[in-house]
Amino acid sequence: MASTEPTSHPSRRKFLSNSSTALVGGALATSLAPPTVHAAGDDTLKIGLIGCGGRGNSAAGNAMRGDPNVKLTAMADAFEDRLGQARKVLSRSLREKYAVDDDHAFFGFDAYKRVMESDVDIVLLCTPPHFRPLQLRAAIEHGKHVFCEKPVAVDGPGVRSVLETVKQAKQKDLSIVSGLCWRYDYGVRETMKRIQDGAIGDITSVQENYLTGTLWHRGRKPQWSEMEFQLRNWLYFTWLSGDHIVEQHIHSLDKALWLMNDELPQNCFGLGGRQVRTDDKWGHVYDHFAVCYEWANGVKTYAFTRQIAGCHNDVDDYVLGTKGRAHLLGTRGRPRIENSDGTWKYKGPRPSMYDVEHKEMLAAIRAGKPINNGSYMSYSTLMAIMGREACYTGQTVTSEAMLNSQFDMSPERYEWGDVTLPRVAMPGQTKLDRSA
Ligand SMILES: NC(=O)c1ccc[n+]([C@@H]2O[C@H](COP(=O)([O-])OP(=O)(O)OC[C@H]3O[C@@H](n4cnc5c(N)ncnc54)[C@H](O)[C@@H]3O)[C@@H](O)[C@H]2O)c1
Repeated sequence: MASTEPTSHPSRRKFLSNSSTALVGGALATSLAPPTVHAAGDDTLKIGLIGCGGRGNSAAGNAMRGDPNVKLTAMADAFEDRLGQARKVLSRSLREKYAVDDDHAFFGFDAYKRVMESDVDIVLLCTPPHFRPLQLRAAIEHGKHVFCEKPVAVDGPGVRSVLETVKQAKQKDLSIVSGLCWRYDYGVRETMKRIQDGAIGDITSVQENYLTGTLWHRGRKPQWSEMEFQLRNWLYFTWLSGDHIVEQHIHSLDKALWLMNDELPQNCFGLGGRQVRTDDKWGHVYDHFAVCYEWANGVKTYAFTRQIAGCHNDVDDYVLGTKGRAHLLGTRGRPRIENSDGTWKYKGPRPSMYDVEHKEMLAAIRAGKPINNGSYMSYSTLMAIMGREACYTGQTVTSEAMLNSQFDMSPERYEWGDVTLPRVAMPGQTKLDRSA
């Protein structure tokens, strides 16, 4: 197995030094002390949302359903309009659990810092993946429990930073719950347990499909700088999303990792390209990837992902073993296992996995028994990044090389203005360490 220890201190570029932060309302008192849930007889858990888009708004709702005594008390987004829209929507949907006054609603690149400085107990990190290592680090340094959307980084230095932060969270007894939601789905959990207990014998290979149509695009307005255009359309820029193998297919790759007891594959190779989304508006990401991952014991995962309209779609996990086979999602049916005993289908309850994530996180915080999903969320992110790099470069990429990569995708500056658009990656020409 590849070494999983960071070999060097991550050196993320100085973040947001020149950014303009607009604070709506007054300044806040800085508190670096870990949150005390039962302070002064009030056991309300206060929650701050960072990244007020589609997932962020939903995650706030999931969190509010997770415990009778929680409130949303702070919000931050890069953009004032996104913040404003989310405040309108959440004030209506969360009702008395919405308690965000003007002094605790922030926008701008630095807005996340203001939430960290507030008295929230928990932060929901729902910004584009690029910002996760930095915002996760800030949250743990400020003693906050975290719900952390997937993926958690877009490059090797980002993954190393997250692994270090995860250790700090353990030392501080802080929870980090990952948005890799299938780990919180009752049916997938039960099926996975049966596989791990031997229901299909030894796993011989896994096929992961994430074949879908296209996602949203938010257009371009003449007054937007290139940075604003890229940030609003972050899916299509590798430095922000990691490309769709990292941003979306990670859900499948995480299940492959789970099947392999959360051990990283040794290496992978793959094919990919950009056949339909060729217009500049789609940034520089690919629209399809096919990657073969190999573990030390010889097991292989064949992983396919595509975002092209009008094609065959399928999102499922097909696990082959010496004594049977399993469909983890069973999207055309239920999670199921087929072996010489016949077919077993999961028939138990299936509450929303998104609600379960928050319910379990909040219960763990109240019980003083923190959950830390940090290791697998970092490894599945690394798996996705190495798959992308194998396709971008046309080379075999090892997990060790990926984990130790010095290639940092951060832009020189975080400010509203120009930002370089790297070329579309060309297999056989693009190098793994493009900073060299
Ligand atoms: N677990 C799941 O099933 C699931 C589903 C959808 C999205 N996601 C993940 O959630 C994250 C957000 O996705 P989304 O669909 O909500 O995207 P979105 O674009 O709708 O929302 C992201 C928000 O973050 C804001 N933002 C960008 N940079 C910021 C910064 N530096 N500081 C503060 N705010 C910033 C944007 O303005 C936007 O409002 C992504 O990592 C995505 O992969 C997970």
